[in-house]
Amino acid sequence: MQLQGKKIVLGVTGSIAAYKAALLVRLLVKEGAEVQVVMTPSAKEFITPLTLATLSGRGVVSEFFHSADGTWNSHVELGLWADAMIVAPATAATIGKMAGGIADNMLVTTYLSMKAPVFIAPAMDLDMFAHPSTQRNLDILHSYGNHIIEPAAGELASHLCGKGRMEEPHIIVEKLKDFFLADSPLKGKRLLITAGPTYEKIDPVRFIGNYSSGKMGFAIARECALQGADVTLVAGPVALKTPHSSIRRIDVESAQEMCDVATEEFARCDAAVLSAAVADYRPSEQAVQKIKRTADNMRIELSPNPDIAATLGKSKRPSQLLVGFALETDNAEANARLKLQKKNLDFIVLNSLQDEGAGFAVDTNKVTIIDNDSRVEYPLKNKAAVARDIVAHLKKLLLVCLMMFLPSFVDAQELNATVTLNTSKIQGTNTEVFTVLKDGVTEFINNRKWTQYEFEEHERISCNFTFVVDSYSDDGSFVCTLMVQATRPVFGTTYSSVLFKYEDKGIRFKYQPYDRLEFNEDNLDNNLTALIAFYAYMIIGMDFDSMGELAGSEYLNKAQSIAGNAQNLGDSGWRAGSNENNRYTVIDDYMNGAMEPLRRLMYRYHRLGLDTMFKNADGGRKIITSCMDMLKEAYDNRPLAYVTKLFTEYKQDEIVNIYSNKGGAEEKKAVVRILSEINPSQMDAWDSIEKSAL
Ligand code: CTP
Repeated sequence: MQLQGKKIVLGVTGSIAAYKAALLVRLLVKEGAEVQVVMTPSAKEFITPLTLATLSGRGVVSEFFHSADGTWNSHVELGLWADAMIVAPATAATIGKMAGGIADNMLVTTYLSMKAPVFIAPAMDLDMFAHPSTQRNLDILHSYGNHIIEPAAGELASHLCGKGRMEEPHIIVEKLKDFFLADSPLKGKRLLITAGPTYEKIDPVRFIGNYSSGKMGFAIARECALQGADVTLVAGPVALKTPHSSIRRIDVESAQEMCDVATEEFARCDAAVLSAAVADYRPSEQAVQKIKRTADNMRIELSPNPDIAATLGKSKRPSQLLVGFALETDNAEANARLKLQKKNLDFIVLNSLQDEGAGFAVDTNKVTIIDNDSRVEYPLKNKAAVARDIVAHLKKLLLVCLMMFLPSFVDAQELNATVTLNTSKIQGTNTEVFTVLKDGVTEFINNRKWTQYEFEEHERISCNFTFVVDSYSDDGSFVCTLMVQATRPVFGTTYSSVLFKYEDKGIRFKYQPYDRLEFNEDNLDNNLTALIAFYAYMIIGMDFDSMGELAGSEYLNKAQSIAGNAQNLGDSGWRAGSNENNRYTVIDDYMNGAMEPLRRLMYRYHRLGLDTMFKNADGGRKIITSCMDMLKEAYDNRPLAYVTKLFTEYKQDEIVNIYSNKGGAEEKKAVVRILSEINPSQMDAWDSIEKSAL
């Protein structure tokens, strides 16, 4: 019922495909929508208003007024009433009228009054569809913000084959659902739900279990799936069908199995709802053969099972939510609050066995939702309605989480990175892995705290990480070129200056969807995170160098040590394309004592030069001119070092700008001489400085 309560105006026009409108109405109604059919006069030749009125449960609108009593059908009211309008099938004639504003029937008039989004599903012969006139009209409608549901290719009423057949009703409904779901906070969220009891084996035919039916958890899973979430349902032994086709269900039996699966799944989830009634103990030993009856008393020794909620609570990231249940017989609320804290839950759903109609195996439940800031007691409801309440609370907290972890809302993290994955070089079959990798890397860079300092939003260092994928194979092996660029804002302007830019070729790493991207400084095995950490520290170090003289040492040292350690591991993933200009030499050069003039230059150039230029152009430029001497000094100290040349490469445009039509002839000459010596390959650019008029 994903369209529950949605009000849809369905415009039907005179096409052979009008018969499909009947199915469309049925599907919409089945999804919970209220449907008002508006027909053009010619549509009635193809399907009777009676059919559509019966299926929709509402009288069909077709005329401007009722001939019997002269009352008007208000297109304005329909335009305000609807949450969406679908025109299906839409003939070439109606499309033309809609594009041209020719309001000679009720359908086009309603369209012109429509305040809600409009979906148009064309249906016509292939030649008509391909005609520039139709295409132009569709372009016009598209430019008005209408959604065109492209017709499918196939056999047409004319027996010709081609594009023009109205898209199938179930696909139109899917598109509409997607549209409405795009607003849903659960859309695309990965949720883990545990449900049902666990069985703990005593022997091959006996177990310790409990009365949990799994109904509550299944209802929550269904509700989340209906709202567009990507649900993994880990179910103990229950007699329930999977409640929605999009749900991924994993059946388990024991607490240990449930714990293993849940722990693995949770790592890639945004939230988990733990509704399973997990056995706290299991028999210490499981008899291999059926235990025989004897005359004696029998004792079964029990060992504790893992507490799944507490396990996940420990590994929970700040951006993840964890929801638990408490089923209590006494001291209900106090016990529930204790569990909330002990298991590190974000909220807990309390159902007390003392409440009539609450608990196992029944179809109703009476819950109280408790979190650190609120407590809401709900009346007795059926489990589907309780699921809606629980999911509504989850959505509220997810939104808060989303706000907190949206890059622009992070207040303490240093890097503000945009990650791009360019796959144009390969014919990617598995696009999901690229999206997941991109999101994972983005979160890894932006949410990790790289220094001990608190950064304000406006102080965050902007950087781009662009991975150009050179090759990828199904086992998760990537070969990429990584382009890293970091910029710093120039005080008092909207201009950003490049701090560091580097193209790193031949990066090899392995990544399977949902691999956890975690960096541990003592363990560089995961070369992707180590590589990113290397660049993160390098960027932070250079940014600090630009803020205070040699202020970035701590972070540059970290970058150098990561590179050194990774190199010692002999991991092929750490070897860059060329031996001379690889990432080890970049950081080693930069940290070499002989390069100190270059590091001091970073501060002088940015903080003293660029930052003063906006109020004192000449003064700022002269400071930058003096930086060129420092650049030359570094170059003279180690002519083979790559970093001085690198600096001239990424600063080329900026430097040309600073001196074009500005500065004295002598000043320009001196600057050009230094730049040409360090980087003769960019002679043309340097020449342009000298040639520019004063
Ligand atoms: N839970 C769990 N793993 C366990 C026990 C419980 O994940 N081994 C979860 C349940 O799914 C529920 C919450 O923890 O969301 C509370 O379950 P409950 O049985 O009430 O809590 P216990 O910690 O077992 O406390 P007690 O049985 O002592 O009341």
